[in-house]
Amino acid sequence: EKMILNGKIVVRSDISVDVEDRGYQFGDGIYEVIRVYNGRLFTATEHLSRLLESAKSIRLDLPFTIEDMESQLNELVRENGLEFGTIYMQCTRGVSPRNHAFPAPAVNPVYVAYTKPLLHSQELAKTGVKTILEEDIRWLRCDIKSLNLLGNILAKQKAAEAGCFEALQHRDGMVTEGSSSNVSIVTDGKIKTHPATNLILNGISRQVMLRLCKENGIPYSEEPFTTDELLAADEVFLSGTTIEVLPVIQIDGQAVGDGIPGVVTRKLQKLFRDEVI
Ligand code: PDD
Repeated sequence: EKMILNGKIVVRSDISVDVEDRGYQFGDGIYEVIRVYNGRLFTATEHLSRLLESAKSIRLDLPFTIEDMESQLNELVRENGLEFGTIYMQCTRGVSPRNHAFPAPAVNPVYVAYTKPLLHSQELAKTGVKTILEEDIRWLRCDIKSLNLLGNILAKQKAAEAGCFEALQHRDGMVTEGSSSNVSIVTDGKIKTHPATNLILNGISRQVMLRLCKENGIPYSEEPFTTDELLAADEVFLSGTTIEVLPVIQIDGQAVGDGIPGVVTRKLQKLFRDEVI
């Protein structure tokens, strides 16, 4: 199985992590997850643009262009014979004696990428998932796809321990997003999802979903909604690279709508499927 290390295709055993890699010590880096369908990268440009945006936001200079990264990721997918799966990629600020301030002079960033097979989960998509409500304790730059995921991890673990798939986070009474997904509600046929501010990651799947709404005349608005609106919504769904559009059927043990995936959610699931395969 091949991987990318700093712009070269290598085997896994050729890669080692330095104990003083700033990603390892500080979470000082950024990442992306890109889906591969039928051997092709889905929305690669969007993901790679966001990677560069994230890098810029943490003042990390990456010596790669979107075109170079994309063509090399395609090569990796070919070499690994990946048909359906994901690519995980991350860049850290590099290796330097431990010190909070940036290395001076700057060192080379460390860029790795690898693939993993993943099939569409028909079962989950059909039944929908249970969730919990959880306070959003993360920092105020959730728009950056940072390697610092402690808030997300603690929220997800709490969900897992409750036998649930996801934690729906809220800050100051407003629903922000899941621990690794965006959240939308449907009320009287209209979709609401948190606007792309510093409080959420502007998911690529979220953007695809909103475009599909626009193209298919499904009304939507990007505005914050309260936890009360969430609990009273007819339908709730998640979106994300690995889950596409996923119905939420329960929140803290309480049924969403009739407790089964709703019509608008199912329509969006179908539109999303048609888009990717
Ligand atoms: N997670 N919000 C958060 C906090 C996320 O971590 C993700 C993605 C999303 C959805 O973004 P997108 O549609 O671009 O995948 C929203 C990835 C898949 C992960 O960490 O594995």
